[in-house]
This record gives sequence, structure tokens and C-alpha cells, in this order.
Amino acid sequence: MYQLKRVLHLFILKLNLFLCLCSSWASGTTVSYDKNALIIDGQRRIINSGSIHYPRSLPEMWPDLIKKAKDGGLDAVESYVFWDVHEPRKGQYDFTGRANIIKFFKLVQQAGLYGILRIGPYVSAEWNYGGFPMWLHNVPGIQLRTNNEVYKKEMQTFTTKIVNMFKEAKLFAPQGGPIILTQIENGYGNIMDQYGAMGKEYIQWCAEFAESLKVGVPWIMCQQHDAPKNMIDTCNGYYCDTFNPSDPNAPKMFTENFVGGPTKWGDRVPHRPAEDVAFAVASFFQAGGVLQNYYMYHGGTNFGRTSGGPYITTSYDYDAPINEYGMVNQPKWGHLRNLHAALKRGENLLTSGNSTNKQLDNGVTLTTYTNSSGGRFCFLSNPSTNATANVDLQQDGKYNLPPWSVSILIGCNLEIYNTARVNAQTSITGYNPTSINNASSVLSWSWTPEPKTAQRGKAFEFNAPKLLDQKEAAVDASDYLWYSTSVDIKDASWTNLTLHVNTSGDVLHGYVNGQPLGFQWGNSGGGFVFERPVSLKLGKNTIYLLSVTVGFPNYGAFFELTPVGLAGGPVQLVNGNATIDLSSNSWSYKVALNGELAQLYSPNTSSKVVWQTNEVPILSPLTWYKARFQAPAGTDPVVLDLQGMKKGQAWVNGISIGRYWMSVEAKADGCSENCNYRGNYSPEKCLTNCGEPTQSWYHVPRSLIKKGVNTLVLFEEFGGDPTKVNFETVVVTSACAKVPQGGTLELSCLSGHTMSEIRFASYGNPQGSCRNFSSRTCESATSKSVVQEACLGKQWCSVPVSDANLGSSGCTFTVPWLAVEAVCQ
Ligand SMILES: *[C@@H]1O[C@H](CO)[C@@H](O)[C@H](O)[C@H]1NC(C)=O
Ligand SMILES: *[C@@H]1O[C@H](CO)[C@@H](O)[C@H](O)[C@H]1NC(C)=O
Ligand SMILES: *[C@@H]1O[C@H](CO)[C@@H](O)[C@H](O)[C@H]1NC(C)=O
Ligand SMILES: *[C@@H]1O[C@H](CO)[C@@H](O)[C@H](O)[C@H]1NC(C)=O
Ligand SMILES: *[C@@H]1O[C@H](CO)[C@@H](O)[C@H](O)[C@H]1NC(C)=O
Ligand SMILES: *[C@@H]1O[C@H](CO)[C@@H](O)[C@H](O)[C@H]1NC(C)=O
Ligand SMILES: *[C@@H]1O[C@H](CO)[C@@H](O)[C@H](O)[C@H]1NC(C)=O
Ligand SMILES: *[C@@H]1O[C@H](CO)[C@@H](O)[C@H](O)[C@H]1NC(C)=O
Ligand SMILES: *[C@@H]1O[C@H](CO)[C@@H](O)[C@H](O)[C@H]1NC(C)=O
Repeated sequence: MYQLKRVLHLFILKLNLFLCLCSSWASGTTVSYDKNALIIDGQRRIINSGSIHYPRSLPEMWPDLIKKAKDGGLDAVESYVFWDVHEPRKGQYDFTGRANIIKFFKLVQQAGLYGILRIGPYVSAEWNYGGFPMWLHNVPGIQLRTNNEVYKKEMQTFTTKIVNMFKEAKLFAPQGGPIILTQIENGYGNIMDQYGAMGKEYIQWCAEFAESLKVGVPWIMCQQHDAPKNMIDTCNGYYCDTFNPSDPNAPKMFTENFVGGPTKWGDRVPHRPAEDVAFAVASFFQAGGVLQNYYMYHGGTNFGRTSGGPYITTSYDYDAPINEYGMVNQPKWGHLRNLHAALKRGENLLTSGNSTNKQLDNGVTLTTYTNSSGGRFCFLSNPSTNATANVDLQQDGKYNLPPWSVSILIGCNLEIYNTARVNAQTSITGYNPTSINNASSVLSWSWTPEPKTAQRGKAFEFNAPKLLDQKEAAVDASDYLWYSTSVDIKDASWTNLTLHVNTSGDVLHGYVNGQPLGFQWGNSGGGFVFERPVSLKLGKNTIYLLSVTVGFPNYGAFFELTPVGLAGGPVQLVNGNATIDLSSNSWSYKVALNGELAQLYSPNTSSKVVWQTNEVPILSPLTWYKARFQAPAGTDPVVLDLQGMKKGQAWVNGISIGRYWMSVEAKADGCSENCNYRGNYSPEKCLTNCGEPTQSWYHVPRSLIKKGVNTLVLFEEFGGDPTKVNFETVVVTSACAKVPQGGTLELSCLSGHTMSEIRFASYGNPQGSCRNFSSRTCESATSKSVVQEACLGKQWCSVPVSDANLGSSGCTFTVPWLAVEAVCQ
């Protein structure tokens, strides 16, 4: 009805453009909804969607990522709109390259997928400053995300611009485009209370403003209980089966199904098992869900300085179904693809609005969807974390449910999917060193020092009689901000002191009279106290403090006001009980490194800078390194292995591939080989990288690398050893699968690779998991030869799992299965 009104309205306004209207009418798609379905062109739909953030990959990767989303059985691709990417300086817009959001959604459309546009324009997303451009912070009178006229005006200007661009490109569904849903604000309900009445007025204004944009598709507000009129509130989390929108006539939508998680430098890396993600999705549709979106489907990379903070890593892999490098993450991608296919077979019934729940003994719930002509579609869920459930549905058959699983029964009498039974391939990935110069894999380095303390004297940009917040002083033009002052010592009893610096983070380097005092950072929170003994001389002493940000905060009420840098300090010289407070001294400020200003990262060598080639320094803080390299052969994804380096930033052909931080290691304990997916997921459950750097490999998208000579530049902040740095390619080394009788086992290596060995194949009752399979009591003698015949030398193979194909397993007490491990070369 909503849609019809809009069409009639247009009709009346544009009668004179009758032909034109007709054609848009013909190609347009109407989107409406009721409690049980999104209704798209009259068809009742359930939707599986996945988040792919366009600036977290390169345009050259987009078609393949979108194709993998389509092949994975998604109906839609979702993205936020990243304000800081599009308006880095007030009024100066960028919609090119990674910022070409229009091209991204056109590719989504060309692939035959729907789009979900979450404008925000606040995005959170572990993205720098939540997606707000830093200039916004310094607009006089502004208060973000509340009923503040200055902010609302900026939000309105940007949001209107985006909507108008999408309209011009005909991207909204009624115009024939892919966009079926739009979002305004983002998770505001989580923090609204802290804004009092102003918060309520603001979200009301957001709703009215959104409606005034007349996009022709429904608006959503995630995590917004009691959403304003005509805004549909939606759920984010690990599970949303118990969620219901505040409007009883609105569809139940799960906008962020966290498939894993982000990481901070120093964290162990979280994983969420495929079985548990599938459990969350199946439980959601069992409970009447209409739309579910994986956050993330492809996480990608926080290139440049785009990661949020403090301390969000450059990799945003997220354990997503497509990994950071654009490879399918198996078995997660395949297990969810099979789930989408199973759910689609019930779409008609799932959207019919007629379901009943029946509580069986042993805690199992049977949910039956029916339609008016007697069609049936069922879910059986077993929420027990430790007990298998045997269910007898009489004439509809007997079912066995592993703990923490949901089975999907077509016709309510045939199991087509169980969330805990994974038939999809498991891929083991590895990193292959590439020979750069071939003679040796060692890059040939040149280097130049970043001037440290003493040389800086005249170069400071401005002074202030206080310790400024880094947001105000540097407006995020760089991670780096120098603060310097001097102190006159007249008394010999004031020469042996402690320098005490209270900083709001994120990293601090200190120098007194040219002598380094070392550096420090603040573990998980940004702030810390830097305290060092110092020897001063009589007369003038200089103090240089280099404050470094590692991503600005992106989440929470008033996150944008979190102090960063020295921000008021205090900075003190302490002598026993006596203190000289330097906080109100005259401080000089210099934004950015000299090397950044001189664009040393650019392949276009500045003539003023001398890159030295001899005696390449090791463990030397604040040093620039440069090397040339040839494109690694083949098409496999390329990464930079930065072992030996400590912390800094890396550029390939002048483009920043992000910050690196190799010297901060994750806690040594808490990781386990075998992760138990059963029970409510929490990020501590399935961790990897214990005792290792949080991120050791840095994605260099192939499209950044050209034929011939390429340039790699590193800025090393703490002091590292570049001699071990190397490029590597990412490959699937082993492909494994385990499939019961009656199914089909499929294996594939990456394109350009084939199966060179069947390391294990057993049709019977083999045990173990990928790379650790072993046969047990029954096995067909021809298992291995049949699999070898089908798979050796192939990139992809499929093996029907049956006695007829594999020979008799001889198992008398169990249904046999086939387990295979193939080596990809
Ligand atoms: C709902 O299901 C019940 C039981 O199968 C059936 O009697 C009824 O007609 C169904 N209603 C609709 C609207 O399909
Ligand atoms: C009811 O569901 C069955 C099975 O999906 C389907 O064949 C039939 O067309 C449906 N009937 C209606 C009226 O939708
Ligand atoms: C199974 O889990 C339940 C709680 O979910 C617990 O009470 C019970 O002791 C567990 N049983 C076993 C055998 O671990
Ligand atoms: C490296 O050099 C060896 C011997 O010169 C040659 O056989 C090999 O193909 C080269 N490899 C690459 C990747 O260029
Ligand atoms: C400075 O103080 C430290 C203890 O705080 C002491 O060990 C050292 O000897 C002193 N140095 C001088 C030159 O007084
Ligand atoms: C640092 O300064 C802030 C603001 O004055 C204060 O709240 C905090 O307690 C100080 N931290 C330490 C460790 O002194
Ligand atoms: C520091 O203060 C304490 C108590 O206020 C006093 O006992 C001590 O003697 C003082 N030390 C110096 C070096 O002034
Ligand atoms: C390097 O110089 C070329 C030619 O002047 C220019 O097209 C290119 O954009 C420059 N690259 C960078 C990263 O500045
Ligand atoms: C390998 O499998 C065996 C037998 O199933 C098991 O005992 C062992 O713990 C497994 N090892 C690993 C590393 O998973």
C-alpha cells in the first residue's frame, strides 16, 4: 500500500510524462511487508543477506566477492555508507575507486542480487571515528548524534546527497534498482538513554527526515526498540530468534548476525564455528524470521588508517564466509550455502503465516509451517549443549539431532539439513614464500631516517599554552603529533627527576635533550601514564613527546568526545614530593611525520630525500625503508609477511595497505585445537593466535601490484629488522570433506591448482578431522582408489557416496560415511 500511494502520487504529479512514467512503472519493483514476509513485486520472500563493505576491498575485487555471495546462496548484499570516505574534507566529495559506492551497488544489481543500504551516516563498524569525518568534530557548536541543529544539518546534507545519487543512478527498487531496504542512524537504541530527552527528539527527527527522502522502500533502524512510526526496528547479535519488532505487523529482521568478530592489536583472534552460525540462522527462521544478514560476509581489510579504535587491527577478516583475501572460508561458506538452499525450499511455507510449535520431551521443539493446501515444512531444534536427541514423529519418521542443532524437514518428513552435520569441504590454507629476486628471497632495501628530536626546532607548525587533544590539534591528518616544550633548570637539586606524562593514548615516544626515553602504549584502553627517570642539565632543556593514534574510537555514547593524545595531560617533572607541572607551558605542535609530508611512501621519489642503500639500520626507531619487487607469479592472493618488523605503516605503489604491529603478541593461553560449538557463543570461545602477533600477514590486493617493478615502503616506528620481510601467496594446502552415504562429496582447490595426492580416503566409519583422519573398524578396500580416480589431477571433483560407487563398507551397525583429505598443489 505504501508503494501504491507513492506511485499514484507520482502519477498525478507527472501525468504529462506519461510514457516515461509507464516505463519506470514497468521496470520498477515494489517492496512492502507484513509480519511474515518481505513482499517484493507481490512475491512473499525470506531473505538471506551478507555485509560487504565496499571500502574494505578494491573495486577489482568486487565482482568476484559479489559472485561468491551469489554462489553462496545469498539474496542480498548489504553495506553501510562511509561518510569519512566520501567527504574527507567538508564539501569535498569522493566517489572514485574504493569510494565508488554507485558502481558497487550496480555490480550487486548486475549479479541479480538485492541491495540493503545502511546510510547511518554513523556506522560504528570498527571504522575510524565510527565513519564520521574528523572535521565534523571541529565544527563550532556541534554535538554528534543528538538533537543538535548543527549536526542535524550536516547529517541532512550528506544523507540527502547520497539518496539523490542513488536516485539519479536509479538504484532504488521502485526505479528498477536493487535497493530493497534503507537504514537511518545505527544502533542508537543501545545508547539513547544517555542522551535523555534530546536523544528521543533526535531519533524522532531521524525518522521524519528519512521519510521525507521518499526512497520508496522501507526504512529500518537496528537495535531501536520502540522505533518511531514507519521505522522497522531490527536485531543485531549472535542470536535473534527471541527478538520481535515493536510493531507487531512488522517483519522480524536480523540485521547483524556476527559470524566472528573484529580484533584489536594484542587480542587473540576469535572464530565462530560454522555449526553455530547455522544454528543461529536456522533458529531465527524457525522462530518466524524474515530477513537475516551476515555481519560480515566478506570482512576485508582496513586499508590506510581506516580502522577504528583504539587498536583495531588492519585485517577485518571477521572469520567471515569469504576471507580477507577473497577466498571462500570453508566449511563456513559451503555449510551456510547448503542452509540457504534448504531454507529456500520452504520459502512459500515460511512466509505463509501459519506456524505452530510443539514442545517434545527431551527439550526438542518441533515447529510446523503449513499453508492452506496442506503443504508442510518443519524445524526440529535441540538446544541441549551435551545431549543428542532422538525424536520419533510417528508416520513422519525418526530423527536424530546432535546437541545444539536444528534440523530442517521438507514436507515435515524428510531431513534435508542439520546445522551440526557439516558436509561442506574444509580447506586448510597456508602461505607460500615467493622468490622476489629469485637469487635469494631477500628484498634489497634502501632507507632514510625520520628526523627525531633536535632537528625539529623550527619546523613546528603552531604553539598553544596547553596540551591539546589530538583531534583538535591534528584533525586526524596523521597518526603522529609532536608536542614539545622546554624547561629552564636553575637549581642543581632539580637535575635528577622523573618525567611523568599522563596521556589519553594511544602510543607515546619521549625524548629529553635528544635522548630517547623509549615508548609505551596502553594495552586495551587508550590511556596510560608514561614515567621515566630523566637527567636534566642546568639551563634550557627540551622535551619532545611524539603522540601516536591507532584508530579513533567508534562506539558508545559520546565516543566522539573521548580524549586522545596528551589532551590536558598532566605532564610533570617530579622531584621527590615536589612537582613542576608543565601542562600550561608554551607547547609547540607539529602534525605528521616529515616523511609523510614529503610523501616518501610515493614511488615518485622526492629529489630532496636521499635514500641510502648501505648499512641498512636494524632496530632503529622512526625509520623509512624502501624496496622494489616484482609481481609474484600466478593469481593466488598476495600478502606481506612483516616478520622482524615491530610497528608502523606499509605502502605498495604509494597506496597504504594499513598499519602493521608485529611486536604486540596475543596472550599465550586460552586457545584450543578443538573448539566446541555447542552452547551460546562468546568471543572467548574459539580463539587462535595465542602467543603470536595478532596479525602477521598483510593483504596486498593483486590489483595494487603491476607487471614489472613495484615499490614497497615501510615506516617503522619502534625499530625493526626488514631483512626477513617477504611477499607470500595464500593457498589452499589441503581440501577435506566427510559426507554420509547418500550424499555427494565435493572437493576443490583454488583455481590454478590441482589435487596431487589423496592423503586419506575411507568409506566406512573413519574418525578425526581434516589432517587427522584415521580409519576404524569398517572400510571399503576400494575407497582410496575410487577417490584417486575421481580427483587426482583435477581442480574440482565430486564423488557419489554409495556402496555402488565406493564398494561395500562392511559396516553393519552404522550408516557409513566417506572422509577424504586431498593435497592441493
Ligand atoms: C493453518 O494451519 C492449520 C492446521 O494445519 C489449518 O487448519 C489452517 O487452515 C491454516 N491456515 C492458513 C491460513 O493456512
Ligand atoms: C503449499 O505448499 C506446497 C508445498 O510447498 C506447495 O506445493 C503448494 O503450492 C502450496 N500451496 C499454496 C496455496 O501456496
Ligand atoms: C548437560 O548440560 C546440562 C545443562 O545444560 C547440565 O545440567 C548437565 O549436567 C550436563 N550433562 C552432562 C552429562 O554433562
Ligand atoms: C628462479 O631461478 C631458478 C634458477 O635460475 C629457475 O629455475 C626458477 O624458475 C626461478 N623461479 C622463479 C619464480 O623465477
Ligand atoms: C638519581 O636518582 C636515582 C634514584 O632515583 C639514583 O639512583 C641516582 O644515583 C641519582 N643520580 C644522580 C646523578 O644523582
Ligand atoms: C590522568 O589524568 C586524568 C585526568 O586528569 C585522571 O583522571 C587520571 O586519573 C590520570 N591518570 C593517572 C594514572 O594519573
Ligand atoms: C614527602 O612527604 C612525606 C609526607 O608528606 C614526608 O614524610 C617526606 O619527608 C617527604 N619527602 C621529601 C623528600 O620531602
Ligand atoms: C607519480 O607520478 C605520476 C606521474 O607524474 C602520477 O601520475 C602518479 O599519480 C604519481 N603517483 C603517486 C602515488 O603520487
Ligand atoms: C587426532 O585424532 C585422534 C583420534 O581421533 C585423536 O586422539 C587426537 O587427539 C587427534 N589429534 C588432533 C591434533 O586433533
